[in-house]
Amino acid sequence: MTQNPKTDKTFTLTNDQTGDSIKLPVLEGTAGPPVLDIRKLYAQTGHFTFDPSFTATGSCKSRITFIDGEKGILQHRGYDIADLAEKSDFLEVSYLLLNGDLPDKQQKEEFEHNITYHTMVDEQVNFFYRGFRRDAHPMAIMCGVVGALSAFYHDSLDIHDPAQREISAHRLIAKVATLGAMTHKYSIGQPFMYPRNDLSFAENFLYMCFAVPAEPYKVNPVLARAMDKIFILHADHEQNASTSTVRLAGSSQANPFACVSSGIACLWGPSHGGANQAVLEMLDEIGSVENIPEFIARAKDKDDPFRLMGFGHRVYKNFDPRANVLKAACDEVLEDLGINDPRLELAMELERIALEDPYFIERKLFPNVDFYSGIILKAMGFPTSMFTVLFAIARTVGWVSQWKEMIEEPALRIGRPRQLYTGPTQRPYVDLDDR
Ligand code: SDX
Repeated sequence: MTQNPKTDKTFTLTNDQTGDSIKLPVLEGTAGPPVLDIRKLYAQTGHFTFDPSFTATGSCKSRITFIDGEKGILQHRGYDIADLAEKSDFLEVSYLLLNGDLPDKQQKEEFEHNITYHTMVDEQVNFFYRGFRRDAHPMAIMCGVVGALSAFYHDSLDIHDPAQREISAHRLIAKVATLGAMTHKYSIGQPFMYPRNDLSFAENFLYMCFAVPAEPYKVNPVLARAMDKIFILHADHEQNASTSTVRLAGSSQANPFACVSSGIACLWGPSHGGANQAVLEMLDEIGSVENIPEFIARAKDKDDPFRLMGFGHRVYKNFDPRANVLKAACDEVLEDLGINDPRLELAMELERIALEDPYFIERKLFPNVDFYSGIILKAMGFPTSMFTVLFAIARTVGWVSQWKEMIEEPALRIGRPRQLYTGPTQRPYVDLDDR
């Protein structure tokens, strides 16, 4: 179902200096705000629009993910995230994101087989790791090794061939998880564990991270289910910063491995995917409930760069539906593991105090997806520095789905924003002796 966004509605834009007016067409999607089509604005008015952090700019049409920030709605291809997290699994959601509908039994089996049999990486990839220091940040390693995959898979780099696009997408979904596990093993000085085809995606990932060659390892089913749910909740999220990075890189017709590597680099930032690591570090810095008021005051102080990590969101102004699911999963994992992590109590008290504070209420700052995920991941045994790698593993399917949708657009054009120039106007060169 491809809804034609064209309408007969328009906005009139008038230049108050000249009285000249133009009509801006209104385009309407199947849900969410309509958009003003400004593609002819510069040709008709000689003016650009100005929206530096894209707070009011639609960069593309997409059928993949819908978010309503006011109502706390997140849907993938029309399915609510809470339903998917409860009833589906990560590979089924991956199929949905990539192909547009939930798979039938045969499609699901075929997809699971394809992903499973792409989890191994070329043995040469192992040698990349030896170039990194053991204490390299795992995201630094991931930026490098994921981009390097394009050096191995020349048979799937033709982005105009649908079959090669599909193989690249499957390879990335499967291999980024393996590379993530290898990155964890490398950073703790343990041998890499090869993928196992008899395990589910989440079980296999936990096995590759926590098994050792010296003895058998049984994946805890509660942790596997929590891991799978965490992957689902992080899979895609409309045109967020890293997805927009992947789309922009892809618009130049760069290969998908390089595009996903650019998304990993962007996700690393503490304002984005790096927030889950920053939340744990913040909770450890706060230390105890008694210190919460001091940190709340710092978060409100414009002269203090400190922000309450895991709070706030560009789109969600009510609540992040993923945070609610993660909070429930957090309780389940900690109970199953018999862990009484004081950070969970601290996080819940921080949430309670912040949500009663006018500063946070007025600015509609609520816990986001990163607020609780770190506590679960810590309980599962991951070092804090691996948290954003886990986010990247999940988001890879969102990145490749959005990339694929863009490449399949009839008229793929390179993304090339303009600017408001405020620098020096033309001036003559001055010789060194005369400066
Ligand atoms: C993710 O886009 C996505 O979809 C991202 C993501 C995804 O799935 O891809 O959902 C994943 O990145 C979640 C966000 C993780 N980041 C953090 O938790 C870092 C802490 N949050 C902030 O850095 C911030 O809230 C952002 C980056 C998330 C959103 O920034 P915006 O939309 O640019 O908001 P803003 O900076 O304009 O803030 C508006 C006001 C400001 O105060 P005033 O200038 O109006 O007085 O709210 C304040 C900000 O100072 N504010 C905060 C705050 N976040 C915003 N104050 C204290 N603590 C915070 N966390």
